[in-house]
Amino acid sequence: MNKQQYEKQYKAYESVRKKVKQDHWCLQYHIMPESGWLNDPNGLCQLQGVYHVYYQYSPFDVEGKTKLWGHVTSDDLVHWNQQEPVLFPDHPNDCHGVYSGSAHVVGDEIHYYYTGNVKRSDRHDYDYIQNGREQNTIYTSSRDGFRFTPKERILSNAEYPDDMSVHVRDPKIYERDGIQYMVLGARDRQSKGCVLVYKATDAQHFTYQSRLQSKIDFGYMWECPDLFDLDGQCVLIVCPQGVKSKGYAYANVHQCGCYIVDQTLATNQLLTGFQQLDWGFDFYAPQSFMDEQGRRILIGWMGLPDITYTNPTTEYGWQHALTIPRILHMQDGILTQVPVPELQVLRRAHHEFTTLQAFQEAQIMTRQFELLIEIHACTSFQLQLRTHTWLTFKSSILTLSLGDDGAGRDTRRMELDQLEHLWIYSDASSLEIFVNHGKTVFTTRVYEAEALKPLSVTCDGILKTALYEL
Ligand code: FRU
Repeated sequence: MNKQQYEKQYKAYESVRKKVKQDHWCLQYHIMPESGWLNDPNGLCQLQGVYHVYYQYSPFDVEGKTKLWGHVTSDDLVHWNQQEPVLFPDHPNDCHGVYSGSAHVVGDEIHYYYTGNVKRSDRHDYDYIQNGREQNTIYTSSRDGFRFTPKERILSNAEYPDDMSVHVRDPKIYERDGIQYMVLGARDRQSKGCVLVYKATDAQHFTYQSRLQSKIDFGYMWECPDLFDLDGQCVLIVCPQGVKSKGYAYANVHQCGCYIVDQTLATNQLLTGFQQLDWGFDFYAPQSFMDEQGRRILIGWMGLPDITYTNPTTEYGWQHALTIPRILHMQDGILTQVPVPELQVLRRAHHEFTTLQAFQEAQIMTRQFELLIEIHACTSFQLQLRTHTWLTFKSSILTLSLGDDGAGRDTRRMELDQLEHLWIYSDASSLEIFVNHGKTVFTTRVYEAEALKPLSVTCDGILKTALYEL
């Protein structure tokens, strides 16, 4: 699809965009598609004060077929301006999808790297895993985030190591001591996931250096790698596919987590100590960037591919959204995520409660809120967030259960020594629950099955609660 074809169909789609706006599941402060399907955040960056977020986008297909890059901008990470898509699958090197990629700001220029997906159709026996697919690494640049230089292919399958399958994608740049590296997610010919590391001589010329792999068997494909320095450590976020669930961990169809890696990228590394980034139902393919204040900010896809549960929003012509922006830190070897403070401008009515009884009596009924709870000496805790949606803590297990509100999402659990703090952002059809100052996060979509009930808490300890309607 080229720009002209997009524009023509965009006009014809006005009625669908109107329908989307009528959906009461529409999110009020999250990035969501004007119509159709959205997945991974791409090309996150800030240039001259303006935040740019691009995303995988199928504007005219709610199930997500050929992808282009959608685009929104913001001055404050809270209010987003819808822009026109920027990269279309209009070239032989990316004709079956402008796949995920990233941005790297150098001075007043943004360098972009993405995967051009091409599925060959000249033979009938392609399996599209070992053969039949091109995954081109493509470079383009911009001085304003809107107008791009011509696309240049800088790597093709022939330049990936010989033992790779045809699945190699999602370039992200990591810069250290003035040297640029590129990481790519990959599946090798034996169906083992890994990350390939390339080193640059300039913005367009990269040579293969090494690979990062799990020491134990850990999935057949690794998608969307993100490598960055944070609080003195080198962190790799990655999304392994094909990992079996273990206890309460890895309950989703595909995983997202991080490793701490050795900064020396010259040699291969066998990684251990995978930390799951989110314990809810809808979180995948996040990307981080450093903003002009030097903060490491992460935005994820509030969705997942290949899920069995559904999103009733498809009836209104749209599906999926991005998470709120979160600030990352490393604390005692744990990657923490907390909402950016800018979101506090959304706060409207404010309620504070120092007793449980006061909270219950207030009978607060809202889906759009920010809730902060300080908890002391509690062994049993229950919070009702929607009609059938409960967050409970008992016997050192934290459970999120959606029941009939889940559209197929049932229960997610994790082991937790102590529940001390909750910070929850709720939007019309989403929940982002930051536990113990962001050491654990649950992200989920939620669709209450019956009329809303007031928020309600029970707890055998001491609580202090602040609730803001948004
Ligand atoms: C992750 C992913 C990426 C790919 C993109 C295509 O969700 O599969 O690996 O680049 O989505 O939309």
